[in-house]
Amino acid sequence: MNAPSDHPATNTTFAIRADLLDFTADPGFGAPDDAPGVRYRPDHWLLVKDGRIAGAVTGDPGEAWERHDHRGTLLTPGFIDTHVHSPQLDIIGSYGAELLDWLRTYTFPAEARYADPAVATAGASRFLDALYAHGTTAAAVFPTVHAASADALFAAAERHGMRLIAGKVMMDRNAPAALLDTVESAERDSSALISRWHGRDRLAYAITVRFAPTSSDAQLAMAGRLLAATPGAFLQTHVAENKDEVAWVDSLFPAARSYLDVYEGYGLLGPKTVLAHAVWLDDVDRARIAATGASIAHSPSSNLFLGSGLMDWRALEAAGGRVSVATDVGAGTSLSMLRTLADAYRVQALRGVRLSAWKALHAATRGAAETLGLESEIGSLDVGATADLTLWRWAATPVAEERQARANDLHEKVFAWMIQGDERNLLTTWVAGRRVYEAPSLDQ
Ligand code: GUN
Ligand code: ZN
Repeated sequence: MNAPSDHPATNTTFAIRADLLDFTADPGFGAPDDAPGVRYRPDHWLLVKDGRIAGAVTGDPGEAWERHDHRGTLLTPGFIDTHVHSPQLDIIGSYGAELLDWLRTYTFPAEARYADPAVATAGASRFLDALYAHGTTAAAVFPTVHAASADALFAAAERHGMRLIAGKVMMDRNAPAALLDTVESAERDSSALISRWHGRDRLAYAITVRFAPTSSDAQLAMAGRLLAATPGAFLQTHVAENKDEVAWVDSLFPAARSYLDVYEGYGLLGPKTVLAHAVWLDDVDRARIAATGASIAHSPSSNLFLGSGLMDWRALEAAGGRVSVATDVGAGTSLSMLRTLADAYRVQALRGVRLSAWKALHAATRGAAETLGLESEIGSLDVGATADLTLWRWAATPVAEERQARANDLHEKVFAWMIQGDERNLLTTWVAGRRVYEAPSLDQ
């Protein structure tokens, strides 16, 4: 069964037998063999009651439970993608450009199509089904400048009972006319979307400034006021991704100390701020990120694909900054968080830093949830957390089978799974205990 767009209510009380892996704390950048916070419970039954995690036991939980015996597979919390653009599924893998050319040539024309609510509705369903089919159960998403594209996304996520953070993109300059709003229309549309969706079910609004070059000073100031006036709202944008972009921001905002400082000047940095990229920062910027509590959505696949640069994860953390991992599709080349974590390993390797599977997987689950302030709801197998779950094959190919058989310890096994694994390993995805994706092979 491939995931349909609407999923009938299914029984949300059941038990699954598998190898359980999640994290209770940040394992850090130290050696994998004595990393803290790794919780591996091989061959356990995870108990799910009314869509929430109720416990984990070693023996058969008994006939009172609807039991699914998947021994020999891996059960983890669903991945959290903290920065992804839903309309950009349509332009993944576009050739030959750095950021600013890529936006002009491919991205803006693709986003202009989403002015049509029918395109936005179909795109939102396709996007969420694709997230589930890659093992992602929660996300912070950029639709387009069009209010209808945000409505379509929220409506689709609500149907699935999904944890979604999103907001209409604000951009009132330096883009094609078909993608421009104004200070007034952006405020009106964002406020209306906030009243419709913010805090409803598992949905939260993010005031979504595309990036400093496409918003006027007046629009950035309005975004800051809206953020301050909306309890629980997020703020999402891009910062310091590409050298030409940074130079452009310097020329557009000559009074600012840095690109990041533009946002701070308009009150856009706080604990609910998610900044994508942060490749080209200095030590003062890193200290300001830590002081304001903003977090970074590191997007390694995107940074490699557009040739943007190598983010200094360790320096950010050393300064006290918090980091999650994101696909940034469509500059990122896949919705798979496993592929993205493999790219994160490569980016850190190019900096001379070794990223363990523990550190990487934590940043895509509990660590990401912590950056969003949602750790009691998502990102772990803690009792009481919502049952946003993914079930994986340890190996999806004969080569991976052999590699798994040769693993000498747990980290080696999990690391090989992370590097070789992708959506072909995924068996089932649950959102709030409801099955939203099942691999075709299970029905054959
Ligand atoms: N900066 C401004 N807009 C975008 C976008 O859509 N993708 C990426 N990667 N960077 C951006
Ligand atoms: Zn982005």
